[in-house]
Amino acid sequence: MRLSRRQFIGLIGAAGLAGCARTGLDKVAKMDVMPGGPGRLTFASIGDIHVLDARSTGIVNRAVDMINAREDVRFTVILGDLATDGQYVELNLAQTSLARLEKPRFTVPGNHDVNMRAKNIYGNYTKLFGDLDWRDEEEGWLFMGIDSTNDTKSDVSIRPDQLDWIEKQLEKTNKSRPIALMTHHPFNPQTKYRVINADEVLGMFAGHNLKLIAAGHFHGNQEEQSDGILFTTTACCSSTRDNHDGTTAKGFRLYHLDKDKVTTEFVEVVA
Ligand SMILES: [Fe+2]
Ligand SMILES: [Fe+2]
Repeated sequence: MRLSRRQFIGLIGAAGLAGCARTGLDKVAKMDVMPGGPGRLTFASIGDIHVLDARSTGIVNRAVDMINAREDVRFTVILGDLATDGQYVELNLAQTSLARLEKPRFTVPGNHDVNMRAKNIYGNYTKLFGDLDWRDEEEGWLFMGIDSTNDTKSDVSIRPDQLDWIEKQLEKTNKSRPIALMTHHPFNPQTKYRVINADEVLGMFAGHNLKLIAAGHFHGNQEEQSDGILFTTTACCSSTRDNHDGTTAKGFRLYHLDKDKVTTEFVEVVA
């Protein structure tokens, strides 16, 4: 997660203690008391923007303008593959465009955000976008951002350190709290590039109220409902890459949460 100073100050002012939780993501209260039920909110996701140069930020800026024009969007999650080859200049261009989002934004890394030529392969990403994993609570929902990368591999397993992190988060989460998981590599039961140990990860949420896994990586719109969980992937929002399913529409996705129900829609962006 990375917020601009203005966004951060706004959050502290508007959310009080909730703002504190955002700054100390692992320091949430031991007992997760959930007063009342989950409420309503809309958020957006953009994935696979694959910025290469200044020209390739055009479609991203257009998407940002469209999201900013919607009063109902509470925050935006960027679902990885912000860059082409994990280079600082690419990620910095992406960050400059995404900093135009007027509401908070959260980010997870993709396989194209890893710089295999650096000693710290995540250094460029974390300098600009902050923590690789995060949690955030909004309207009674828990949002978890998970780093699904295995270097630059396309087919991945969720790493043991990430499994540990998920377990720790679940230990301090009320079992009735609806959960939305944000990750780059997809968990959809029928998708190409499905996370290899997806079933193991899903098993960790047994007894909890997992409702949504939003992912990128597969450049194409897929919505699948299974065991009460909505799994999505979304078309890329990039002018440097094509969709993997042969479709031509580029864009972003909206999620409408109402109590613990999720509906979703794709929004096309014409660059
Ligand atoms: Fe991608
Ligand atoms: Fe990817």
